[in-house]
Amino acid sequence: MDAMNKDASKLLHRLAEADQAHLLRFWDQLSSEERAALTLDLHGMDFQELQGFFKKAMEVSHHSSQDRMDDRMEPVPREVLGSVTRDQMSVKSWEQTGMRCISEGKVAVVLLAGGQGSRLGVSYPKGMFDVGLPSHKTLFQIQAERIIKLQQLAEEKHLNKCSIPWYIMTSGRTMESTEEFFSRHKYFGLDKKDVIFFQQGMLPAMDYQGKMILENRSKVSMAPDGNGGLYRALKNQGVLEHMQQMGVEYIHVYCVDNILVKVADPAFVGFCVQKDADCGAKVVEKSNPTEAVGVVCKVDGKYQVVEYSEITMETAQKRSADGRLMFNAGNIANHFFTFSFLKDVVEKYEPSLQHHVAHKKIPFVDDKGQLVTPDKPNGIKMEKFVFDIFQFAKTFVVYEVLREDEFSPLKNADRQDGKDTPTTARHALLSLHHRWVLNAGGHFIDENGTRVPAIPRVAAAGSDGRTNLKDRSDLPIKCEISPLLSYAGEGIQALVKDREFQSMLIIDERGVHEQVKNGL
Ligand code: UD1
Repeated sequence: MDAMNKDASKLLHRLAEADQAHLLRFWDQLSSEERAALTLDLHGMDFQELQGFFKKAMEVSHHSSQDRMDDRMEPVPREVLGSVTRDQMSVKSWEQTGMRCISEGKVAVVLLAGGQGSRLGVSYPKGMFDVGLPSHKTLFQIQAERIIKLQQLAEEKHLNKCSIPWYIMTSGRTMESTEEFFSRHKYFGLDKKDVIFFQQGMLPAMDYQGKMILENRSKVSMAPDGNGGLYRALKNQGVLEHMQQMGVEYIHVYCVDNILVKVADPAFVGFCVQKDADCGAKVVEKSNPTEAVGVVCKVDGKYQVVEYSEITMETAQKRSADGRLMFNAGNIANHFFTFSFLKDVVEKYEPSLQHHVAHKKIPFVDDKGQLVTPDKPNGIKMEKFVFDIFQFAKTFVVYEVLREDEFSPLKNADRQDGKDTPTTARHALLSLHHRWVLNAGGHFIDENGTRVPAIPRVAAAGSDGRTNLKDRSDLPIKCEISPLLSYAGEGIQALVKDREFQSMLIIDERGVHEQVKNGL
């Protein structure tokens, strides 16, 4: 360490005190740029705080692995539940309330887009992904256009110019590319001032002794601090203040990966407002015990989401007297908060939220400076979860919606029979839009002019019992409707009623286009 200047020796001293001196073990071999970059990274870290996070997270993780979650869980009670099917009569009124709030400029949306999309296997933010729709719109564009349409519907109804501020949480890894993408696409038609980017925090990956891991000789391995990093970022990045200045009262928080997401859904907002709730969660019925979604429930009497990995199969399979799964409130990561609740969370409760521990295979450099990719977990990443604040709500409600209308997440790369892939997301959207056309009185015909049945023939299974993807009869009609034209199926009757269309059908701002072309 001969070459170390005064600042660097100070840093070494701080690191030694925190038992992290190994981070400078390649110092003598680093270029001056590498030294500067490493110093800068370490300079911003509060080692004591990090040690505290590590100890606490490991303790909690140890206890929870011994302490069966299953015995402490209760399903969501009926009285806090609203449902688009069981409470059909109320949906219009909820929607009206939500629309009024939007027209008054009281509703904002927060998009959680700081994840790394590692399961999908892309190196860019998930929102920039094109699932292969006829229009090739990305998830970001679809969501932006839904916001534009909703603003327009609220304005038309209440004759009041309004906007829905869109707060987009990114992370160190996604910030630059996300902002650049929006700027290149001119904010997809939104007013630039209504799209507010902010950045969540990052935490170092640590080995099981609490030592930070180097991903190369001059760089600590860092990962975003979980989607619950939202609350700290809202404060640190001045977002809460911005919301206050804008007069925001209600906030819809959602995850980037759901192609069917109803951004700022007026019915959900209106339901929560009418119930005087400070916090709400949108769910779909979990129908299969092994489905990889968290369930909203009570644990020790407090509302919480229990992730699928945290319960035993025995509990996941439990059924109520009506035959449905007992824990069936599947979390689709769409949450409602009042501004005052969010403010309380940020100011009072955030520090008490625990980090969850994810055991990971974290690539590291060995003493020779060589990169090693381990084949079993060698350390942890620490994350907070967005729903961990449900426990602080005074009035918590749950809103159940239909999966086929509102939930098709993009998690994994395409593979035969894969779940939550670009193909399943694309099919879910096309199939929803197909139903919109049918419900508005339109029909589809095949190349011989014969009407295609509304419910497509189920594809024949192959000899291995699986559906053969090459048999096109199981594929949805190719029908895409621009969100700029319809938010949730409204307003298309004049275009489609009593008309017959061939696939593919595209309805957008420029009109109705038919293309007789097959293949998805
Ligand atoms: C999430 C939910 C799960 C739900 C499922 C539905 C959480 C913790 N879990 O699980 O209960 O059933 O969605 O699809 O919410 N993100 C950040 N910063 C981070 C990490 C993630 O902004 O540090 C964002 C991602 O960009 C994404 C969202 O949070 O939009 C969800 O993250 P992901 O890791 O995909 O969560 P799941 O495990 O799928």
